[in-house]
Amino acid sequence: DKRIVVLISGSGSNLQAIIDQIDSGRISGRIAAVISNKEEAYGLTRAANAGIATTVLNHRDYADREAFDGALQATIDAHSPDLVVLAGFMRILTPEFVRHYAGRLFNIHPSLLPKYKGLHTHQRALEAGDAEHGCTVHFVTEELDGGPLVVQAATPVQSGDDADSLQQRVHRLEHRIYPLAVEWFCSDRLRLDNGQVLLDGAPLPSSGY
Ligand code: GAR
Repeated sequence: DKRIVVLISGSGSNLQAIIDQIDSGRISGRIAAVISNKEEAYGLTRAANAGIATTVLNHRDYADREAFDGALQATIDAHSPDLVVLAGFMRILTPEFVRHYAGRLFNIHPSLLPKYKGLHTHQRALEAGDAEHGCTVHFVTEELDGGPLVVQAATPVQSGDDADSLQQRVHRLEHRIYPLAVEWFCSDRLRLDNGQVLLDGAPLPSSGY
């Protein structure tokens, strides 16, 4: 089984989706640790309930981003992970950190990348009048929300939608695609090869599906 470390800042519903799929035997991996930069993150309770080791590293305890990311990297590497999963981890990471985990660092983002990098994605999709909105799992590179795509899921924007209703529907899609991507990685079906994502040896589209 592959060893996974999950980084969170909040509710951890994506963490929960991955835990559930591991528990039901659908992911050939196990979560070695959950690390949060927020002490109050509910995802820490989810991890504890699942018997997973947790660590809180408060970024405010560190002089700068480099110091925090260095401590974070040491904490992660103590668990020798095959895969590091950002699941609502709301911190920008240094290039050194990202390079260290090249090819084994996933993020999930609540938009159909390359659309709407950054924050307030649901509101921005609404304001743009988009016909559909969704979420993306991608490998993390130095470009914020710009790494190679692994999988996306979309939902039609409906006339009565507001940012909350869209967010809820996109969240449900996240809970389907993140465990899927993790399983592809854990079963050695998915890898990053020279900036190109290969699934079962075949290249995936590099920008949007
Ligand atoms: C998710 O919607 C995820 O896509 C988003 O944070 C939420 C975390 O939810 N991530 C980002 O915005 C990253 N920039 P969760 O804690 O319930 O999994």
